Amino acid sequence: MWPDRRLIDLFKTEFPIVLAPMAGVMDAELVIAAAQGGALGSLPSAMISPEKAREQVGLIRQRVKAPVNMNFFCHTPVELTREAEARWKQRLAGYYAEHGLDPAAPIAAANRAPFDAAFCEVVEELKPEVVSFHFGLPEQALLGRVKAAGCLVISSATTVKEAVWLEQRGVDAVIAQGAEAGGHRGMFLTDKIAEQPGTFALVPQVADAVKVPVIAAGGIADGRGIAAAFALGASGVQIGSAYLRCPESKVSAGGRKALAEVGDDSTVITNVMTGRPARGVQNRLMREAGPVSPDAPPFPHAATALGPLKAAAEKQGRVDFTNLWAGQAIALGREVPAAELTRDLAKSALARMKALAG
Ligand SMILES: Cc1cc2nc3c(=O)[nH]c(=O)nc-3n(C[C@H](O)[C@H](O)[C@H](O)COP(=O)(O)O)c2cc1C
Repeated sequence: MWPDRRLIDLFKTEFPIVLAPMAGVMDAELVIAAAQGGALGSLPSAMISPEKAREQVGLIRQRVKAPVNMNFFCHTPVELTREAEARWKQRLAGYYAEHGLDPAAPIAAANRAPFDAAFCEVVEELKPEVVSFHFGLPEQALLGRVKAAGCLVISSATTVKEAVWLEQRGVDAVIAQGAEAGGHRGMFLTDKIAEQPGTFALVPQVADAVKVPVIAAGGIADGRGIAAAFALGASGVQIGSAYLRCPESKVSAGGRKALAEVGDDSTVITNVMTGRPARGVQNRLMREAGPVSPDAPPFPHAATALGPLKAAAEKQGRVDFTNLWAGQAIALGREVPAAELTRDLAKSALARMKALAG
């Protein structure tokens, strides 16, 4: 029934749909629900410890007999210099004063760890069927160990050049992440945000350039989007934002309220929340200090000084400093259980493709 079965055959899932990993707003509960609905569930592991990742995969294995994807970041850590920290604190000083916060008080550093030997051991032990990376790939030795453990490897590309780079290093499928996508841009061979192609332009060009299956991501939130992705040459889709309002996600009450009110023009690509370009619902900080600012320190350090502001504002029911990552199709999201949503997405995509085929 699906016009291209390469991803279904590779992942051995019921549908060619990947629930996107979404660090900070989901855990095993959403993975389990999406997998029960027939998707490949992805566990975001960039903001949790190896112990927590182990526990979460254990929960998933207990509850559902389905393949699982563990997702990691693989950025090169950059030290935060005193100058960069001082410049950012200076930029935020007015907000600290407004919230009665002491800028000299010690704060916990932002926690986005790249894939390393400790996580590699977890992968070797748990043997998830799929491992996905964001921001490129880990060093050759670690990548070799992941493959030797029998895991399929996939990673995001935001340009044709990145897709070809990933294929040359042996990935089993490429996620073509268009500019509409929520969350961090997976870009790793470029830092030129204005040049990032949209999903409609990127997917067919990546499909022409690589032999491995292409997973379209960015702005896909219903059956129409899935059918379009297949028409453009994709073998499957990775969907994030459309799952954010599911009861199984960990989006806060304030976040849910904000997501229920968004429109097609509510999101921007910004670097002020973490130091790396990411798309999210525009908030006060993005409006006033960004969306892109040279004062934001490198990833993930921008998030550190925002911690106390985020907490203070959220206490008052505001999301002024909250990174509510979401893509341009977020307004198409619905508040339905993730298993039901997954089945609806597949069913409506198939119906749409059938209708188009006449
Ligand atoms: C809230 C949120 C968090 C995200 N976190 C991650 C992550 O931890 N790892 C990752 O590889 N991608 C992450 N992404 C990007 C997704 O993998 C994917 O590219 C994106 O959700 C697709 O676009 P869509 O949101 O329009 O469906 C995140 C996206 C969102 C919306």
